[in-house]
Amino acid sequence: MPVLENKVAIVTGASSGVGAATARLFASEGCAVVLAARRKDELEELAAEISHNGGQAVALAGDVREEAYAEALVDLAKNRFGGLDIGFNNAGTLGPMGPAASLSLDDWNMALSTNLTGAFLGAKYQVPAMEERGGGSLIFTSTIVGHTVGFPGMAAYAASKAGMVGLMKVLAADHGQQAIRVNAILPGGIDTPMGREAADTPEALSFVEGLHAMKRISSPEEIARSVLYLASDASSFTTGTAMLVDGGVSINRT
Ligand SMILES: NC(=O)c1ccc[n+]([C@@H]2O[C@H](COP(=O)([O-])OP(=O)(O)OC[C@H]3O[C@@H](n4cnc5c(N)ncnc54)[C@H](OP(=O)(O)O)[C@@H]3O)[C@@H](O)[C@H]2O)c1
Repeated sequence: MPVLENKVAIVTGASSGVGAATARLFASEGCAVVLAARRKDELEELAAEISHNGGQAVALAGDVREEAYAEALVDLAKNRFGGLDIGFNNAGTLGPMGPAASLSLDDWNMALSTNLTGAFLGAKYQVPAMEERGGGSLIFTSTIVGHTVGFPGMAAYAASKAGMVGLMKVLAADHGQQAIRVNAILPGGIDTPMGREAADTPEALSFVEGLHAMKRISSPEEIARSVLYLASDASSFTTGTAMLVDGGVSINRT
């Protein structure tokens, strides 16, 4: 039996990478998905592909930094599919790179508003919808950067993503009694446009792969399978967890 049968999810960052892979996997497991990101054509193509394969999907393009967009996504989930069970707040940006002293306030705000404020806004509207449903699963895509490692040049990214882990823990404490579980996934390197931006030459990629105990980076589909675990009843007693899915990059020292 499909593990997300009759469930409804919002997936942000669904136009690419981990979000697109997770939306496909959720849909193949019986979940109706609301696809979110700024690029409309990519979202609509994915919605058509999911429908063609017998799943249910609807696309709404927008910017996760906008409060009205967070609200509109939840309204769409309710109006089109009857409610909301899963919020995968995954949209993210590396933002401008460089040591903290080289960043402008605009650079800093850009990373913080997309990654951290975007996650807060998602949760702000998703939690009440899950309360109406009698429970749910909120999942944030954080990263190892700023949590187990401090890669150089990633000050704003690290701060925004580590902030998400703090937000996640308080949400988990606040809403455990309402059967709303809240967790974060902390990937290592992933083969996506963002991963290729962070390692943009064969030498840089080989260096990044070598940092992982498994001597490779992950596919977006591997991360999606861990997100499915957090979304489904397989993780029914897991809340408040920052879950490493990092090929051992956090523990490796060779
Ligand atoms: N790749 C890695 O190595 C890696 C490692 C650890 C964690 N992560 C995290 O994994 C998540 C997914 O990234 P990915 O690797 O799949 O990269 P990706 O393929 O570049 O996807 C990023 C997604 O975020 C969306 N997005 C960015 N800014 C947005 C905004 N302001 N409003 C709405 N959507 C926005 C993008 O869509 P639009 O451009 O269409 O808006 C895109 O769908 C991110 O949170 C990232 O920080 C990635």
